[in-house]
Amino acid sequence: MSNEEQELEARLADQEYFRPSPEFVGQANVSDPAIYDRFDDFPAGFEEYAELLDWDKRWDEVLDASNPPFYEWFVGGELNASYNCVDRHLDERKNQAALRWEGEDGTQRTLTYQDLYREVNEMAAALQSIGVEEDDIVTIHLPMVPALPITMLACARLGAPHSVVFAGFSASALAERVRDADSEYIITIDGYYRRDELLDHIQKTDQALTEVEHDPQVLAWTRHDDARHEIDEEYTMVDDLLAEHRREEVEPVSRAAEDPLFLMYTSGTTGKPKGCQHRTGGYLAYVTGTSKYVEDIKPEDTYWCSADIGWITGHSYIVYGPLALGTTSLMYEGAPDHPHKGRIWEIAERYDVDIFHTSPTAVRMFMKWGEEYPEEYDFDFRHMTTVGEPIQPEAWLWYYTHIGDESAVIVDTWWQTETGGHLITNLPALQDMKPGSAGVPAPGIAPALYNDAGESLESANGQAGNLVIENPWPGMLQTVYGDDERFINTYWADFSETDSDDWHDWTYKAGDGAVHAQDGYFRVLGRLDDVMNVAGHRLGTMELESAVAEVEAVAEAAVAAREHAEKGEVPDVYVTLREGQEESEEVREAIVGAIETEIGPFARPANVLFVADLPKTRSGKIMRRLLEDISNEEELGDTTTLRDPSVPEQIREQIQAG
Ligand code: WTA
Repeated sequence: MSNEEQELEARLADQEYFRPSPEFVGQANVSDPAIYDRFDDFPAGFEEYAELLDWDKRWDEVLDASNPPFYEWFVGGELNASYNCVDRHLDERKNQAALRWEGEDGTQRTLTYQDLYREVNEMAAALQSIGVEEDDIVTIHLPMVPALPITMLACARLGAPHSVVFAGFSASALAERVRDADSEYIITIDGYYRRDELLDHIQKTDQALTEVEHDPQVLAWTRHDDARHEIDEEYTMVDDLLAEHRREEVEPVSRAAEDPLFLMYTSGTTGKPKGCQHRTGGYLAYVTGTSKYVEDIKPEDTYWCSADIGWITGHSYIVYGPLALGTTSLMYEGAPDHPHKGRIWEIAERYDVDIFHTSPTAVRMFMKWGEEYPEEYDFDFRHMTTVGEPIQPEAWLWYYTHIGDESAVIVDTWWQTETGGHLITNLPALQDMKPGSAGVPAPGIAPALYNDAGESLESANGQAGNLVIENPWPGMLQTVYGDDERFINTYWADFSETDSDDWHDWTYKAGDGAVHAQDGYFRVLGRLDDVMNVAGHRLGTMELESAVAEVEAVAEAAVAAREHAEKGEVPDVYVTLREGQEESEEVREAIVGAIETEIGPFARPANVLFVADLPKTRSGKIMRRLLEDISNEEELGDTTTLRDPSVPEQIREQIQAG
């Protein structure tokens, strides 16, 4: 640990704990610590989550671990995710809201469970009519509109795994994902609102189609009757198809528990995103269980997770977990500060939100805007969540005081796209809150810290190490789509005996660093690999670098994470130029433009720095960590392994001079 880390650790060790209120504890879904003992019975404890679902056929075996790391959960079981999120609620609550949606332009829509049932069935019939069959991968490129969960659930109904691509991704990023999954279908929409502008979204599909070799069919939803963008006549309009399939019902396909439910692409340490493949039974059981125990969701709640469904948080904790529990899940289309900085709290008041779920980036932004905005509105959260990044104790305290009114309980949940659901988090009624710490392992989860040599650090000794998970769990990814080898190399090879078929020899590497404090709480420090966390979005430095390398003037590029007060991290791009090229505003713009085209505007770099040379080891590997030291104005780390140890100092001087 650096000095700075040690100081922070000392400060955090003294951090006060906050106790959940007796009112909260009295009503919580879980208030008996015996839950941990039940889940200690591994893997049988996880049946408690599976039992929250309706199965067409019960499983014969909880876990088949005979071929690690290709674990199989609830083997022999069959179920349908759409049935579990929709149909099974009709008897008891068909007139209760399943989704409440607010458009940025103020449009409001409520879909009861009955409405959702109708729309999901009609969409499933529409998908069937264009040829979608069980096991076809359907790419969904939709923003935060009801069409998104409707399409996901329609796919799930047919047993067609969906691959949702975040709407903010560029045409090229969309094309890459369509290509990797060899997907024959793209579901998109004409446009959506962002800061009053109806964005032309469908052009990304137009462009993506020119970048894939095969010829996917396109289905287009419409956001607005009178604002249709120019739409390719080859595309099929969803509205037309729905009219043809009015009130049709589609029998939910019984899926084996291990059949894939969806792919979610995520950044890694190479330039190519990985398609994390999630199973139907284990995933749905895990997110339903954690939605109930960690999020404390009850059917009568109004629950609002402000993430985008285009990321894993939205899949697990806007769509699948909450709807499987039969609650009311709220969605908002637009920008949080549009048309004013009180928009979030205005919505919270309008719908009487009980549970609020957001990211530390959002909290830091709210904090910067000031408490006068939430103060203007009358809302009363019982429970709040943060996810996606470490939260600084200062931001936590502000959230607790000004948003939670010192009465809402907060859970800081650590998990990943790969893990499906929360792995480290307190159960809200059972542990005291400690600002800045994710907390204790979720029931049945076995996190530990290893040193780089793969030795386990003593539990709860306050040292920093590699965060690993020693037992499998039902929410874990099945594999990287189409690439079992990459799955093993990325997550398992470092800390497992890969020739063993005893699952105890296999350990999942999270790629994060963490500290396990004496009180048993884990504090996650952040990524140890070349993955950045920009405003809660995961970005691989290699993906950014490959985009920059497309610019003709560029010889070499390296991306370093610069710490940023609000966004957590932002990318700094260091480039060397080809012979005869000169640094100029044009080249800078070309570099920024390349990143926007290849990935999307949300990945835009903070700085483009032209340098004479990049720090490299003798074997030619770029030492990004030294660039990070420069970006963050920290002391330079070890430079002795560099081919030319003077390079980082030169860069620093050059930057200071420039
Ligand atoms: C980081 C988001 C600290 C971590 C669900 C992880 C966190 C990456 C926390 C996964 C937290 C997530 N405290 N860091 N509570 N939650 N992270 O795949 O670095 O988008 O590896 O999944 O976010 O990001 P992903």
